[in-house]
Amino acid sequence: MKIVCIGGGPAGLYFALLMKKLGPQHEIRVVERNKPYDTFGWGIVFSDQTMEAMQRWDPESAGHIKQAFNHWDDIELHFKERVIRSGGHGFVGIGRKKLLNILQARCEALGVELVFEHDAGSDLDYPEADLIIASDGLNSKVRTRLAQVFQPDIVTRPNRYIWLGTNKPYDAFTFLFEKTEHGWVQAHIYKFDENTSTFIVECPEEVWRAHGLDQADQEQSIAFCEKVFAKNLQGAKLMTNARHLRGSAWLNFQRVTCKQWSHFNGNSHVVLMGDAVHTAHFAIGSGTKLALEDAIELVRQFTERGDRAECIAPVLEQYQGLRAVDVLRLQNAAWNAMEWFEVCGQRYCDPLEPEQFMYSMLTRSQRISHENLRLRDARWLQDYERWFARGSAVSDGRPPMFTPFSLRSVTLKNRVVVSPMAQYQCLDGRVADYHLVHLGARALGGAAMVMAEMTCTSADARITPGCPGLWNDAQMHDWARIVAWVHQHSDAKIAMQIGHAGAKGSTCVPWQGGGMDQPLPTDNWPLVAASAKPYLDGGPLPRAMDRADMDRVRADFVASTLRAAQAGFDWLELHCAHGYLLSGFISPLSNQRTDDYGGSLENRLRYPLEVFAAVRAAWPAHLPMSVRISTHDWVQGGITPADAVLIARAFKAAGADMLDCSSGQVSPHQRPSYGRMYQTPFSDRIRQEAQIATMAVGAISEADHVNSVIAAGRADLCAIGRPHLANPAWTLTEAARIGYPGLAWPQSYEAGKAQLEAGFARERSLQAQSAASQERVA
Ligand SMILES: Cc1cc2nc3c(=O)[nH]c(=O)nc-3n(C[C@H](O)[C@H](O)[C@H](O)COP(=O)(O)OP(=O)(O)OC[C@H]3O[C@@H](n4cnc5c(N)ncnc54)[C@H](O)[C@@H]3O)c2cc1C
Ligand SMILES: Cc1cc2nc3c(=O)[nH]c(=O)nc-3n(C[C@H](O)[C@H](O)[C@H](O)COP(=O)(O)O)c2cc1C
Repeated sequence: MKIVCIGGGPAGLYFALLMKKLGPQHEIRVVERNKPYDTFGWGIVFSDQTMEAMQRWDPESAGHIKQAFNHWDDIELHFKERVIRSGGHGFVGIGRKKLLNILQARCEALGVELVFEHDAGSDLDYPEADLIIASDGLNSKVRTRLAQVFQPDIVTRPNRYIWLGTNKPYDAFTFLFEKTEHGWVQAHIYKFDENTSTFIVECPEEVWRAHGLDQADQEQSIAFCEKVFAKNLQGAKLMTNARHLRGSAWLNFQRVTCKQWSHFNGNSHVVLMGDAVHTAHFAIGSGTKLALEDAIELVRQFTERGDRAECIAPVLEQYQGLRAVDVLRLQNAAWNAMEWFEVCGQRYCDPLEPEQFMYSMLTRSQRISHENLRLRDARWLQDYERWFARGSAVSDGRPPMFTPFSLRSVTLKNRVVVSPMAQYQCLDGRVADYHLVHLGARALGGAAMVMAEMTCTSADARITPGCPGLWNDAQMHDWARIVAWVHQHSDAKIAMQIGHAGAKGSTCVPWQGGGMDQPLPTDNWPLVAASAKPYLDGGPLPRAMDRADMDRVRADFVASTLRAAQAGFDWLELHCAHGYLLSGFISPLSNQRTDDYGGSLENRLRYPLEVFAAVRAAWPAHLPMSVRISTHDWVQGGITPADAVLIARAFKAAGADMLDCSSGQVSPHQRPSYGRMYQTPFSDRIRQEAQIATMAVGAISEADHVNSVIAAGRADLCAIGRPHLANPAWTLTEAARIGYPGLAWPQSYEAGKAQLEAGFARERSLQAQSAASQERVA
């Protein structure tokens, strides 16, 4: 085959050499516009894992790279006059020039033709080639020419960064955070040879402009960075090697993805590789890894399917199919890490103490969990657990999930709450034996608090005929029996969630009417809502509430609150989420009023806040109140997480103790991005920016998740829903699974504790043995 690689970066060179190794008969040329030793940037870093793959595919180049690289394990944070260091992270650093020179030399030794100082105009310039690798980097000309085919999506991110170097030695991946008069500026630093370290400086656009860096040339920019980080640099100089860039060398990161990765241009197959097809932010340091792994995968496909011209089309199809999945996974993690650095100045730097800031930074991609950190540096994590536990007034270093948490006069024994979950098992709004067993079992299951499902403030406030209520005293006495049972037989607290269904009322019990939100065929009741807008397209039309309706509904909320207090509940939650009545006022998708209760967010919040204030005044002052909101409508034009911060601030000002951060269900047209802990970032944002306690909820399904969320300060409590449907004793089970013996079991169940713990201990030791034997095999 005749192969041309346009661009001699890591992707093009590595593919060329691996392919030449596979079939020495192939004519392979790499066309590079720069001179052989001329390149941008300083050092790059990749993980031990990438190095292992390179060792398997080409031990010769891997050997040279290993000799040249710097290996280190530690990450060091310099923040608020403190230095914190943790180990076990495993990186290798190498100069970009050095890496390219090794790959160039290996290409030459194998007989790849290297053409330097030639700017390739287009893939069409090489009609004789069977295969053209477009490895021409971020600003790929080939991708731009064939944009209709490749359909690139390029997102320019808001932060500014500059890639500098220094001769000051650093022996850890070092992060510096400095507060300037215009905001926080950070540096990411790593050593890549004996005397040189990469020194990337980053800050938000507004901080950059406020410092006049938009007007600064490279010398002035360097002077600025030297001044900001003078304390750390101690006289060492910063250097640039981007003098070829005109004017300022400050860049914005561009995230590139492409729908299609390859194309036949009439003469040749053209395929994108490396930065030309995908980029990963330097916060996760994986751009070179992705480029090298692309090259490996494409060669692997040729190895398996045959390295002949007729094999190219299926090989390219398979290459994209396999790589796209891995790349997306890494880009998602890189996105979280990138966002963390984009918002850290406004979200984390001021409120978090150095210990927690370090934890939050290390887990920024949400790929590294609490237990991953333990594997990396058990001692550091143990110290951190001790530090965290001290903040909750416990002296042992128990996992964060099992630390107590207090609000007003209530202390929860740990951070797990059974999320409210409608059961549709009531007649006339009355709970009976079903709820006694359902809530009682979960109260015995180790969670610190069980929250009753949405309980309605009037008969016409119900979602379905099976929903519970608190609109009469008989209902109050039914609840009082359950509350008393929970208090007598468990050490769990019990919370009441009150709500009104609004436009989503008068629907069937899900298993009787073909799913959620389906209107009752008969015996409907009239609906009220913020506006006369049905929830489902073509669904039953609610009446827009007038002032008299508002007064009546507010009075119903107050009456239910008084009954909840009389029934003995420990905690009250006001349901302002999921498109029900109060949520329907908050979201612009459902509130189209033109009076004082519609229009701006301030107006849309007016009635929910009015209800909140009346309820708070009726609820005993020594007991806490949380508010559940939908932090994201997942629909264009709906509530966004930025709005949710304003909503949280408003409820906080009105006296709310905690925001319970759910999302969605406000519109049937929602397009949520589900995934592990997918709503936790909204809780994190609200907690830091509105400075209020939060409860995270949604796809939190392991102790490891709860520990990471709580330890990083992304929430104060975690509500666990569906896992509690599968296992009422979810918290007891998870404690045993992670080997934490300190959670007390109900006396009568005690005999089961040691047995469960022994079972999990055996499982952990088998896993450890199998990991050790795999290591020996490898
Ligand atoms: C600040 C910063 C820090 C980074 N840190 C890391 C890190 O720590 N770890 C990591 O893995 N990655 C890092 N990266 C990313 C990494 O540099 C890239 O992901 C990686 O270089 C991609 O390799 P590539 O071969 O696809 O593209 P490139 O390395 O960009 O190579 C493309 C080559 O094509 C050449 N070229 C372009 N157009 C033409 C043309 N028309 N004709 C001929 N030649 C052409 C260019 O001159 C260049 O040599 C960082 C990037 C930045 C910006
Ligand atoms: C069967 C069921 C009923 C639910 N009922 C309520 C409810 O009454 N009130 C409420 O705020 N959320 C309700 N939810 C949402 C849950 O409280 C929780 O937010 C959601 O299930 C996501 O958490 P999970 O991934 O841990 O299940 C319900 C969820 C389920 C599965």
